[in-house]
Amino acid sequence: MKAVRVLEYGGQLVFDNIATPTIARDEILVKVKCTAVNHLDLVKASGTVRQILPIDLPWIPGHEFSGVVEQIGSDVTEYAPGDAVFAANETGGAYAEYLAVKQAVIAKKPASLSFEEAASVPVASQTAWQGIFTHGHLENGQTILIHGGAGAVGAYAVQLASHAGATVIATASGHDEAYVKSIGASRVIDYREAPFEKVLQEKVDVVFDLIGGDTQQRSLLVLKEGGHLVSAVQPVSQEEATRHRVSGEMMRLAPAGDVLARIARLLEEGTIRPDVATVYALQDAAQAWKDIAGNLPHVHEMSPSGLGAARRTSHGKIVLRVA
Ligand SMILES: NC(=O)c1ccc[n+]([C@@H]2O[C@H](COP(=O)([O-])OP(=O)(O)OC[C@H]3O[C@@H](n4cnc5c(N)ncnc54)[C@H](OP(=O)(O)O)[C@@H]3O)[C@@H](O)[C@H]2O)c1
Repeated sequence: MKAVRVLEYGGQLVFDNIATPTIARDEILVKVKCTAVNHLDLVKASGTVRQILPIDLPWIPGHEFSGVVEQIGSDVTEYAPGDAVFAANETGGAYAEYLAVKQAVIAKKPASLSFEEAASVPVASQTAWQGIFTHGHLENGQTILIHGGAGAVGAYAVQLASHAGATVIATASGHDEAYVKSIGASRVIDYREAPFEKVLQEKVDVVFDLIGGDTQQRSLLVLKEGGHLVSAVQPVSQEEATRHRVSGEMMRLAPAGDVLARIARLLEEGTIRPDVATVYALQDAAQAWKDIAGNLPHVHEMSPSGLGAARRTSHGKIVLRVA
């Protein structure tokens, strides 16, 4: 099969022919139609996080995909060859024509979504779901502050929180204000113009941090006592959280087919919507990485593969069409 691989940390992406994977009893062989690009692909490949997120080299990137079931293991009961599916998976492998994946992380692709749209959904939407509900315990009537509300994860967090009956405040660039309001934020604070903690008049129940650093630190100032600070990017100081009488934790996506199936229903009924910015062919994965590398200065500096400095100017995910 054709696949894009990383042969060494910090190396070029190589497009070549390799053996098609075999499946275990609880796995499904998916013929991949589309995959999407995530920061995690670049970060893992750069080697900067090899101590905490090691990869087996050579490595096929790609933590989410849409496709069609080609073959099922003997223990697989929920799916049959020909089913259109989508999923996120922790180990990567989707920049390829075929992928072996556990039944437990898969869900049926919403019929209303194209394969391109479906591939853009699993990582960002499940991260948002688990961040705000599983870890943030967000409830109807509460107020949430979402940092990075125009980004891939942030946009799902805004939509899901709004659908759950929360009041949503988001930080974003000014040029994304109309977009973030259109998907459910009642208020957008331009992070380039004003410090959010000075602008906010009320305290919030939950902060979902997709930015980290100083933004995370200042978030402690705007939480109600007993509130939750959930970060998808950086650990939260327990000392600081206790001092502000809030809970704080870093979350990591745990792909789950049942969560994705619930998200699929919301997509099917049009309650939430995907956002695809660009579609490339699989063999142009290196160009797609250049497009998002501008948001990752540390990766850009470290990679000898010449990841460009182009900065994304619009929201939405970059999708790779495989078949
Ligand atoms: N823990 C996990 O399991 C997990 C899973 C998925 C993603 N993540 C992480 O979550 C983060 C967000 O991912 P993503 O895919 O949503 O990224 P993304 O699509 O690149 O979005 C990032 C957004 O943040 C905005 N932004 C930048 N600086 C900001 C600031 N200081 N305040 C408010 N907004 C700011 C950007 O706007 P401008 O471009 O206009 O500046 C952009 O809209 C990444 O670090 C990713 O690695 C973690």
